[in-house]
Amino acid sequence: MRFEERLNNGARELLLDDVKRRISQTWSEIDHPRPTEPELTAETKSVLSTQLPETGWGDRITLEVASKVLDQSLAQSRPRFLAYIGSSGLEIGAVADFLAASYDFNLAIDSKAASLLEQQTARWLGQFVGFHNAEGLFTSGGTVSNLTALAAARQRVDPDARKLGNSKKLTVYCSVESHYSNTRAVELLGLGSNSMRAIGVDGNRRMRTDLLRAQIQQDLADGFTPMAIIATAGTTLTGAVDPMSQIADLADEFGVWLHVDGAYGAPAAGTLTGAALFAGIDRAHSVTIDAHKWMFVPKACSVLLVQDLSVLQSTFGHDEAYMPHDTQAANPVDLTLEYSRPLRALKLWMALAAFGAEGFRAALESNLDLAQYCYSIASSRGNFRVLDNRPQLSVVPIQLQHADSAKTSKLNQLLTEAVVQDGRFFLSEAQIDGETWLRPCFTNFRTTREDVDDLFEVLEEVAKSINL
Ligand SMILES: Cc1ncc(COP(=O)(O)O)c(C=O)c1O
Repeated sequence: MRFEERLNNGARELLLDDVKRRISQTWSEIDHPRPTEPELTAETKSVLSTQLPETGWGDRITLEVASKVLDQSLAQSRPRFLAYIGSSGLEIGAVADFLAASYDFNLAIDSKAASLLEQQTARWLGQFVGFHNAEGLFTSGGTVSNLTALAAARQRVDPDARKLGNSKKLTVYCSVESHYSNTRAVELLGLGSNSMRAIGVDGNRRMRTDLLRAQIQQDLADGFTPMAIIATAGTTLTGAVDPMSQIADLADEFGVWLHVDGAYGAPAAGTLTGAALFAGIDRAHSVTIDAHKWMFVPKACSVLLVQDLSVLQSTFGHDEAYMPHDTQAANPVDLTLEYSRPLRALKLWMALAAFGAEGFRAALESNLDLAQYCYSIASSRGNFRVLDNRPQLSVVPIQLQHADSAKTSKLNQLLTEAVVQDGRFFLSEAQIDGETWLRPCFTNFRTTREDVDDLFEVLEEVAKSINL
């Protein structure tokens, strides 16, 4: 098919009708669990190993084939996908992506209303989580948001580093359970991962501030310059929320940048149940929130909120011949790591506008409730073990016990594999204190208490097929 042929309006309408039918079917299927995951068929594998077609297949056939491929892929939006920290593909967000892609904005430059919308969405999100007066911008994920925040933190303590490289012995503090993306950022900034100080955690798996203080004091005595403290607001492993007020006190005392990695957990700050855990979030210099995790919109939609955008300008600002500054105002690309940026904010803006803070609060509360429910069921069954303390957010590690405790880890590893093979649920495993656990995560508004009840039935049933 030639590009001129796509101009045919009739063909466009037909294609849109077809897309509409398929999307509507997908959405109604995704709302409910399916009895098993479909096979990845030999036919699909064969299509996916063909050479580049010289003559195109045309829109209709291509759409047909793509639909089959998508159906045989692993979609995290299904209600019984409880592995990792999944996402939900909220419909209005998917629609927003389609619209934004149709215009194909580039937020590297001031895109008029689209740029205002990006700024407003960041402010809305700040209001939702209690990080008031926040400004912000959208990135491709928590990894890039964390890197951006740490680059800004470095700019603050070592302003010549952009030109001269790191001239100081910088250190960064986080809990032992912080996400690896932070270490990756430190590696990329040329600090070396040895500059990361992994601080021990308490019985709730939150960063211990007594150890944090001692480590900062030791480092100062040894001639290091503390660059940033990263408080995790919802660890990936167990959903622990570091004590942000106490950490902010130390950040103030030692004059260190406080970054909150709330990629997963920060949305819970907007709920009645969760808010208290996040006290102090408004004292951070920067906060990462992945809207594609627990604000339910499709990937990729991460937000970096900051107290003051000008620090990003000093971190990333530049004046190149192909991007001159016609006015005093910076181009958005002077504030971001990325050049070409799609209008990622539209999906969150449309979702927030459509459901309001109230709608989001209710969906988040429901996930928090499922986590407590899952913990209660596991604790009440004699053969499951749970962590000593109830879940702070929506990650609930559980462990099926073997009569011979030395075999419990192996049992849970085999159980995860068997459940995935079974196809009714999708779970992932986690290593906690050297042992293997199952780690259901509740971040999908479609998941219900009935799903949690069935999870335990399926686990018991599937476990019977394991010989260990
Ligand atoms: C706490 C935390 N920070 C950062 C990330 C990285 O986010 P992304 O996968 O969007 O890059 C994750 C991912 O799970 C996370 O849980």
